[in-house]
Amino acid sequence: MSVTKEFIYGLPKAELHLHLEGSLEPELKLRLAQKNKVDIGQSTIEEVKASYQFTDLTSFLKVYYPAMNVLQDEDDFCALAVDYFEKAKKHNVKHCELFFDPQAHTSRGVPFETVINGYYKGIEKGREMGIDAHLIMCFLRDMTADSAMETYKAALPFRDKILGIGLDSDERDNPPLKFAEVFDRAKREGFHVTMHCDIDQKNSIGHIYDVLHKIGVERIDHGTNIVEDPALVDYVLAHRIGFTCCPVSNSFVTEDMKGREMKYLLQRGALITVNSDDPAYFQSYISDDYHALASKYELSREDVIQIAKNSFLASWISDEAKRNYIRMIDEYAAKAV
Ligand code: HPA
Ligand code: ZN
Repeated sequence: MSVTKEFIYGLPKAELHLHLEGSLEPELKLRLAQKNKVDIGQSTIEEVKASYQFTDLTSFLKVYYPAMNVLQDEDDFCALAVDYFEKAKKHNVKHCELFFDPQAHTSRGVPFETVINGYYKGIEKGREMGIDAHLIMCFLRDMTADSAMETYKAALPFRDKILGIGLDSDERDNPPLKFAEVFDRAKREGFHVTMHCDIDQKNSIGHIYDVLHKIGVERIDHGTNIVEDPALVDYVLAHRIGFTCCPVSNSFVTEDMKGREMKYLLQRGALITVNSDDPAYFQSYISDDYHALASKYELSREDVIQIAKNSFLASWISDEAKRNYIRMIDEYAAKAV
């Protein structure tokens, strides 16, 4: 049976790979630009959308980072998070672990506490809306390891607001081991850890080896190049490492969704999850990503249900909470047509 969009939208799910800054929709971008008197070079939604010209990760990041200038005070960061929760609710997202990039803001003079307090106010509003939301603080891998460590120390007074630590931005010449020291410390001090291993990077497979064997991540963000190394696939199956895949994002920054790789790993029993990455830029929220993947790669209803279950299994919640969400999915699937 083919899987309908309606079934996918209603399926209870967790989102584990979403950059809050990547959920900045043109409408909010223009509103904040006006409020904060920031010239972003565009004044209509059409102009903003026309500026979304990217063919790879580097060209995407060149459009992505300058837009963040519109985020200035706590209310702006809060508004961005709430804007996402309003969307997430329509996709029946029950739980989310959201990336944010403090250095993209502190490097332009916005204090760390403005960023974290603003986003956290949004997180609390999300919880009032029925979404169990959490934050993952990412380091920008094209900045120095010292800057990452400084950011980590700045975050410690706010540690109850941060669930995990991640690594994003431009992977080219910025391997995971550059950040071994700060990730080692974060793990020792009780944070969950994950890292981006973007698609088709120079030495992707070496980076995946290092995040698994040397850093010791619990999840990999993207990471489907792992199919090139059967021993690494065996390792992630044995250690129940999650993959936060983003098919529509992949189709913007590479030549395809990498759906064949996702389907292969899913059928091997890997914890493949589907997520939206930067939905405002790729114009695809989480259910759209599920649907795009399911229809192009002919996933069965069971495959789609398994991906939703995986999203909770790969999340950083208690075993009891995982069981409850899986029961919720089974009940939904039993009733839905
Ligand atoms: N990869 C690296 N950096 C990013 C991404 C991504 O998918 N999205 C936003 N920043
Ligand atoms: Zn990402």
